[in-house]
Amino acid sequence: MTLLRGGSTDVWARLVADLFIERLNAQPGMRVCLPTGLTPVPIYDELADAVTAGKVSFARAEVFLLDEFGGVDPGDPGRCDQMLERFLLSRVDLPAARFHRLDLTGDIDMVCRAYEDAVGHGCDLALLGIGTNGHVGMNEPGASADSLTRRVSLAPDTIAASARYFGHDRLPTWGVTMGLGTLRRSREIWILASGAGKASIVRQTLHGPVTTAVPATQLREHPSVLLIADDEAAAGV
Ligand code: F6R
Repeated sequence: MTLLRGGSTDVWARLVADLFIERLNAQPGMRVCLPTGLTPVPIYDELADAVTAGKVSFARAEVFLLDEFGGVDPGDPGRCDQMLERFLLSRVDLPAARFHRLDLTGDIDMVCRAYEDAVGHGCDLALLGIGTNGHVGMNEPGASADSLTRRVSLAPDTIAASARYFGHDRLPTWGVTMGLGTLRRSREIWILASGAGKASIVRQTLHGPVTTAVPATQLREHPSVLLIADDEAAAGV
């Protein structure tokens, strides 16, 4: 796992976007896993502007949503698919059929198996945020390195943090996430971190023991993983 320091949050967002644009231009059919949460929002702004400016296109890309909250109304703006639509997909030229979302209305085990099949040998690139407890996707402490797409319970801190996405207090307690094993099949992984609130977990992820108690540490041995942090998030390293 290599740390890439991005500078101020603005500079960091442009750096990540520029790297992404370089990858997508080199491989227009790139299969990419994308997170939601607030961390990637400035990066998605940069990507949307780049598509508008004709610098890159998502027309042949394939996007896999990293995770989804369960028990939430289909149109709830706090859902992961709604957030990704709002912050990125509605602003770029990805054909709707090339967006894989997690529809949690049916048999969840079947949905998870179908998602694993769709991801197949793995994404070319997985972008991930990180929670203050080291979760990636919704792989909370205790998740094993070979876990696959599955239903998970959310940690109390994660539920509380999700209040930033939902405009009401009916917060989800579970979700479905790609597993650490699913993510480890990716050719490349970028963990994104911004802000002082992530400084401690960034330090632990890079230098703490590899442990299921801090899920992100279990990605450390992947052959191509970057932790891309802005100045504040990298301050403790
Ligand atoms: C979102 C996701 C989560 C977030 C993490 C950080 O799809 O998988 O793991 O990346 O909770 O959230 P923010 O970016 O809001 O601090």
